[in-house]
Amino acid sequence: MPTLLQTIAQARPLIAKARAGGATVGFVPTMGALHSGHAALMQSCRRECELAVASIFVNPTQFAPTEDLERYPRTLESDLEICRQAGVDLVFHPTPREMYPNGLASTFVETPAFSSILEGAVRPGHFRGVATVVLKLFAIIQPDVAYFGQKDFQQLVVIQRMVDDLRLPVEIRAHPTAREADGLALSSRNRYLNAHERSSAPALYQSLVRARAAVQAGLKNGDRVRQILRETLESTAGVVTEYAEVVDDRTLEPLDNLEGRSAIALVAARLGSTRLIDNLYLRE
Ligand code: PAJ
Repeated sequence: MPTLLQTIAQARPLIAKARAGGATVGFVPTMGALHSGHAALMQSCRRECELAVASIFVNPTQFAPTEDLERYPRTLESDLEICRQAGVDLVFHPTPREMYPNGLASTFVETPAFSSILEGAVRPGHFRGVATVVLKLFAIIQPDVAYFGQKDFQQLVVIQRMVDDLRLPVEIRAHPTAREADGLALSSRNRYLNAHERSSAPALYQSLVRARAAVQAGLKNGDRVRQILRETLESTAGVVTEYAEVVDDRTLEPLDNLEGRSAIALVAARLGSTRLIDNLYLRE
């Protein structure tokens, strides 16, 4: 089993010792409820770094007021087993008090350009919470390399921007989205889908694949691509589209014309009470 660390005082000396011995420190932050998408990040970390550190922390500040922090799945035993199988050395699993000694609103960091668009528009405060906790985790673990999934593309952009702006000495590595055989992106939320919703859920990926095929065949008009995304989503029973966007992969600005741009399609939809997101590069 990996070594389980619940306090900063336990984590710091162990990591400092490995670093002093010349080890490259790799880090995979998570909120637990681990699945093979998380495991893939951990395996890359294991392969590419001498010390592989993961964190499991359900971060209260990234839950929007309407979202249920208590309902988030907590599965520590099976999470530790997944960490073990992936070869993780250390698992940092702090309490909220350890991470937020002066309360949840005391100090925060934010990337305003991305906070209130797309996911941020639906989830106020979410990215401020994500950026803040990741900055704290970086300060505690001090990784050389940190791994994030492309599945949460806007999160990846927010973290990369924070690292650039604050000049943090950590390299961000993006990991491709792990999917079920039918294309559904792995997510801790998939467990909430009933059988009917589960059968409709691959529509997100299908809409993206259709849009990419159209772009590869020469389509450049952004609105036309958005229409293809929406048509696929809206023709699937039980899928309510929240957004279907085509944006620049660095600025997240909506694109009118894809010519010469690095374009990514981002979709979010509700199936019953479950929100799902997915994305795919249309051209790089
Ligand atoms: P969580 O949702 O647990 O995800 C942890 C990491 O796993 C993120 O980088 C996420 O993008 C990645 N991930 C999730 N599903 C994936 C999939 N199907 N394929 C590849 N990677 C996947 O994201 C968070 O936690 C939190 O916001 C966190 C960054 C830990 C801050 O609290």
